[in-house]
Amino acid sequence: MMQRKWIALAATLAFGLGLGATAFSEPADDDASPLGQIMEKVQKNKAIITKGTRNVASYKKSQKEVEDAAKDWAKLAKESKPLNDAAKAAKGQADPVKKWDELMDLWAKESEKLAEIAAKADSTQKDAKDQLNTINKTCTECHQVFRIDAEESF
Ligand code: HEC
Repeated sequence: MMQRKWIALAATLAFGLGLGATAFSEPADDDASPLGQIMEKVQKNKAIITKGTRNVASYKKSQKEVEDAAKDWAKLAKESKPLNDAAKAAKGQADPVKKWDELMDLWAKESEKLAEIAAKADSTQKDAKDQLNTINKTCTECHQVFRIDAEESF
């Protein structure tokens, strides 16, 4: 009897503390498109790489993590390429699927290049950072062209 009460109380408290709210926000993640779900992984790698190339000390310490995350990007770019609903639905582009494929290939290629840089013991933080900036342009360009409803998705 007593135990039941405690369980109920604990549940109420957990709910009040925001665990309930977390449970309710989960479906939003599940609703993400297959591409959206990949992009969430992409974003995690971005955090690792951005942090790892922030300055010389950080790069020295995290070079291996940067390499792994960049390799993962190349893989995720290849996984993303066939998920081209956004390109198929795009208007005002002569050949949107071709543009999509080019950007995905470029993203994969530049990510492999970053992995190669980070794999070299004598590479510099500046080289890695410059290469990250090159890759970020690819993200931005594709989002500008194809991620039309981004802001009002929730
Ligand atoms: C060739 C196109 C393309 C490239 C390159 C690309 N993205 Fe995306 N990204 C998209 C599209 C399209 C969406 C919208 C997906 C959806 O909601 O269905 C998206 C969504 C996202 C989202 C939102 C995910 C969510 O929660 O729904 C993030 C974050 C993101 N991209 C990060 C990145 C980063 C970082 C890079 C580069 C390292 C990148 N993307 C490269 C096309 C691209």
